[in-house]
Amino acid sequence: MIPRYIVNFDLERMRRERTDVVVVGAGIAGLYTALQVSTYADVILISKKKLDDSNTRWAQGGIAAVTAKSDSPALHRQDTLVAGAGLCSRAAVEVLVHEGPERLKELIAYGTQFDKDDEGRYALTREGAHSKRRILHAHGDATGAEIVRALSERVRETPRITVLEDHFVIDVVTHEQQCVGVLVMGPDDDMFFIQSDATVLATGGAGQLYRYTTNPEIATADGIAMAYRAGAEIQDVEFIQFHPTALYYPDAPRFLISEAVRGEGAILRNINGQRFMEQYHPLKELAPRDVVARAIVTEMERTNSAYVYLDITHESEELIKHRFPTIYKFCLQYGLDMVTDWIPVAPACHYIMGGVRTDLHGETSTSRLFACGEVSCTGVHGANRLASNSLSEAVVFGHRIAKRIKELAPLGALPPIRFELPREHRPANVMKERVKLQKLMLRHVGLKRHEKGLQKASQEMERMMRFFHYALRDRESFEFLNLLNTALLTTRAALLREESRGSHYRSDFPQTDDLIWRKHIIQSIQEGVRIEGGEADVE
Ligand code: SIN
Repeated sequence: MIPRYIVNFDLERMRRERTDVVVVGAGIAGLYTALQVSTYADVILISKKKLDDSNTRWAQGGIAAVTAKSDSPALHRQDTLVAGAGLCSRAAVEVLVHEGPERLKELIAYGTQFDKDDEGRYALTREGAHSKRRILHAHGDATGAEIVRALSERVRETPRITVLEDHFVIDVVTHEQQCVGVLVMGPDDDMFFIQSDATVLATGGAGQLYRYTTNPEIATADGIAMAYRAGAEIQDVEFIQFHPTALYYPDAPRFLISEAVRGEGAILRNINGQRFMEQYHPLKELAPRDVVARAIVTEMERTNSAYVYLDITHESEELIKHRFPTIYKFCLQYGLDMVTDWIPVAPACHYIMGGVRTDLHGETSTSRLFACGEVSCTGVHGANRLASNSLSEAVVFGHRIAKRIKELAPLGALPPIRFELPREHRPANVMKERVKLQKLMLRHVGLKRHEKGLQKASQEMERMMRFFHYALRDRESFEFLNLLNTALLTTRAALLREESRGSHYRSDFPQTDDLIWRKHIIQSIQEGVRIEGGEADVE
């Protein structure tokens, strides 16, 4: 059993603070929501590292929103629904495609400088499964870094936002099924409580569930795990997106090679130099991400290789260096020149489609608790996210969350709240366990899954559950517990879903089963697992 809290505490005996709204996380979702809320309330924004050290910073491709005359919300909706493989919430997708363009204007008003073409119009690129060029980008391939720069500058100059850097949120605290604040550990390992009328989880994703990921070290699924322990519903966490093209090179990290590189014409070749995507999908290299990632793995297996090549050498040196300066420079550090060399790539974990289930205003099933960005499951992404929809989702739903919180009545005084569990005092080497968990996930709960492997992973994870009953006090341990908590939810859902759909592929159930499985898997600490109907077919 996963305990309600991962530490023992007594609020009466702790330092306490009070604010209107707590925002946990400093990626696009956290920064943007904090700015929106600060127009009418005081906000404490908590970042586990520095303000500009989020997963968003690494986003390359861009932000998808309809701006061109030849494009329309209906086309954006259709592309999103098709990529989502029958599990998107239509209502959430409608919200995304209609409100995205307005939110984009706000990002620009906050100071984000997107790239423009020679005529002064916003330059648009294309990525997999988009029927139109609709993706705005900044400094070529540094879109996330530019957004974080602009928003964090605004946050720092906003008096109603207090920023706590290097602070770690251990758990959200609830009383009578409502969220009343957060338990925080400061840089000196001091634990304190912040009471708030509303709490927004904007903690990002779960890439560190896997040994190979494009996400930074901080993506440890904290929000999903905390929300689960707090009683919120968790939806569709079996759907984990592997980005098809992460750099695969000795001693290099699994650096993202943006899908926009394929959008600008790059092709995939197997180890023998043969182009292969036409055998897998009519859209070839620009097929939905799950299709491309699985095709790559199939080619790797067929040719007994650990990678394939991405080839953009047929494009001009000027285009490559101008559109992809960050990727170009990064590869060059390892002696790989995109102008002349094929780049070795392999899939790596990139994004989790499922997460903390929210309504159309970002509110979770736990009252006063909101989720925004990758940690949430608004229903926009279904079983497979359309490229560059994540940044738009964060601002569209961040805006709605800010509006909803404004309507909340303040929280009254709290009674004493304490949590006590007998916990063993043992030295625990969590880093070793974390690597073990990451390998387990990669091997059995990765791109290709089957019952035997999933059972094995689940049994191993059950053995690791003892760590929840140790008296742990450091961040690495809390992060490990959050990863383990989420890994268990992902594995349980992956075992249950006896079909293949979007990013979830079962070799023992290779077909999509719309009759039985056009459904969501929802998990909660109180009720266990619930399976709930999906929606009608895409147009
Ligand atoms: C990429 O640049 O390929 C990543 C964009 C995304 O994940 O949406």
